[in-house]
Amino acid sequence: MSSAYPYTGKLAVLYQDHGDLPALQQLAEQLHVPLRLSTQPDFDQHEAFFLCWRDGCLKLLDKELLKKGGMAVDIEPRQGEQRSWPAPKDGALAKALGRKTQTVIDATTGWGQDSLHIFRMGYALRCIERSPIMAVLLADGFRRLAQADWMQRLQLQPPSLLVGNAIELLASLPEPPDCIYLDPMFPPKRKKSALAKKPMMVLRDLLGDDEDKDHLFAAAMQATGKRVVVKCPDYAESLGNKANEVFYGKLLRYDVFLKN
Ligand SMILES: C[S@@+](CC[C@H](N)C(=O)[O-])C[C@H]1O[C@@H](n2cnc3c(N)ncnc32)[C@H](O)[C@@H]1O
Repeated sequence: MSSAYPYTGKLAVLYQDHGDLPALQQLAEQLHVPLRLSTQPDFDQHEAFFLCWRDGCLKLLDKELLKKGGMAVDIEPRQGEQRSWPAPKDGALAKALGRKTQTVIDATTGWGQDSLHIFRMGYALRCIERSPIMAVLLADGFRRLAQADWMQRLQLQPPSLLVGNAIELLASLPEPPDCIYLDPMFPPKRKKSALAKKPMMVLRDLLGDDEDKDHLFAAAMQATGKRVVVKCPDYAESLGNKANEVFYGKLLRYDVFLKN
C-alpha cells in the first residue's frame, strides 16, 4: 500500500462490549483507522467495513455481516482435503506446484486458503500479503493454527508472513524458492452475482482488482528458482505469453511457467 492512510473512511475497528479493548485500540492505531464502539448510536454510519473480535477470532465484516458472523481466516482443511499431515500431494494445485518442488512462496496470500492447503501438503511455505488488513487477519489465523492440537503434536510452526508489496519483496529474497505462487484478483466475469456473500467477494469490495498483476508476474519470473504458478479464473487471459503447462480445477486454471 503506497498511501499512508489507505483505509480512512472505508474501515473501522469495532469494539462490541467484549474482548480486549486496549488490543483493539492498538490495532486501530496500527491501521490508522478509527475505533468505533457498538454502543455509539451511529457507529455503523461512517465506514463500510469493520474489523472486530468475535468467537475467539479477528473477523472482517461489511454492513450486511454486522448482524451475522463475519469472516475470519479459516484454518480448517477445505472440503475433500485429507486431514493427515502432510496431506497427499495430489489434485490440480499439487500438480501445478510440481513433483520436485519443496519450497514455495505464496506472493498473494489473501484469506490464506491456498497457502494453508499448500502448507498442509508439507511444502516449506512463506507468505506475502500487501494489504495490512488481510495481514492482521492472517496473523490471527496463523496464531490459531499454531495452537491447533495437530500442529503442537507434530511440533510444526505456521508459515511466516511478510507484509508488503511482493513486487519489491521478491526482488530481495535471500534464496530463490522452487516455486512462486500467484493468485491476484482478476475482474469478475459478471458485475452482479446472486451468490451468497463469499470471503473473496468481500475482499474484492475492500481492495479492488490487482491492476499491477503483470508487474507481479514479471517480478515472480525473475525471482523464482524453477517455476511460477498463476491461478486464474477459467475465462481470464493468461498473465504470461504462453504457459508451459496448464492444470484445470473447478472454474479455474493453474498456468505453470517454467524458468529457462
Ligand atoms: C485473490 S486474493 C488471494 C486469495 C488467496 N489465494 C486465498 O486462497 O485466499 C489476492 C490477494 O493478493 C494480494 N496481492 C495482490 N497483489 C499483491 C502484491 N503485489 N503484493 C502482495 N500482495 C498482493 C491482495 O492484497 C489480495 O489479498
